Amino acid sequence: MSKVYVCRNWFPDVLKRLSRLHETKVWMGESNPPRDVLLREAQDVEGLLSLGSDVIDSEIINVAPKLRMISNYAVGYDNIDIAAATARGIPVGYTPYVLTETTADLAFALLLTSARRIVEGDAFVRQGKWTTAIHLDLPGVDVNNATLGIVGLGRIGMQMAKRAKAFNMRVLYYDITRREEIESLLGVEYVSNLHELLSVSDFISIHANFSEQTRHMVSAAEFAVMKPTAILINTSRGPIVDQKALYQALKSRQILRAALDVTEVEPIPLDDPLLTLDNLIIVPHIGSLVPSVRRQMMSMAVENLISGLRGDKILYCANPSVYGNG
Ligand code: GLV
Repeated sequence: MSKVYVCRNWFPDVLKRLSRLHETKVWMGESNPPRDVLLREAQDVEGLLSLGSDVIDSEIINVAPKLRMISNYAVGYDNIDIAAATARGIPVGYTPYVLTETTADLAFALLLTSARRIVEGDAFVRQGKWTTAIHLDLPGVDVNNATLGIVGLGRIGMQMAKRAKAFNMRVLYYDITRREEIESLLGVEYVSNLHELLSVSDFISIHANFSEQTRHMVSAAEFAVMKPTAILINTSRGPIVDQKALYQALKSRQILRAALDVTEVEPIPLDDPLLTLDNLIIVPHIGSLVPSVRRQMMSMAVENLISGLRGDKILYCANPSVYGNG
């Protein structure tokens, strides 16, 4: 039996599997455990189950001499200092695959919602503005035959492409690695230069992983090359887009609209200037938020933790180099 700490009491019936095998302490608060709690709890544990919003940096890892497995309940793991974990030989688990389609659904929903002004349309009706005189009050953008530029053709980016093809879109993608083998399968075209992709796309959807290399990958210079009719969708990680530059681009109508599931700081502070804009939609990081999907993520995180503590090579590992070459 090892001591483990779980950062949220989500799906307690799934967590039971963990507590049957290990001495499990669960943070019962509704939000993240405060920093001082995490620093204290980490000191004694061998396993940690974190959420994407829990910051597991080198300080946490360093105060935890017995820590030998971190399991993240998220497909992204930019909340964890992977280098610090790897230096200690600690495998980091994550939860890919189960949320791929669901997250792509949200990205495509944001695309459609933004193009066809669903949020404003709903407000329009509730404000009593729907009269028989309505003519061009809520002009939409046609999705049919439009060009979608996908930034990052990973699992979710590919599912976004599939959805776009079903809507007769031309789909371009930019990625650091060209995926020639799937281009004809998905009907997508590679563009080797990000600015070129941005300059010809009607819709741009970001599906890249966040790292120091992708921080502010979309900033003032990138907005400058976009079409004035462009709509930007981000369901990956907030800091990939420079939010100050986004504000300027939207405010000055350098681009038409944006739809975000993620922001640089989450939750976005209520006094953030982005929230004053009428050409932006923001939802609260709900890409995978379908209970059955979230349950599968928790099962995967629990299995990762159990197998890592057992000393097995975990199935979904963010830092496989901890296992050497074998
Ligand atoms: C959500 O953003 C995740 O990484 O699972």
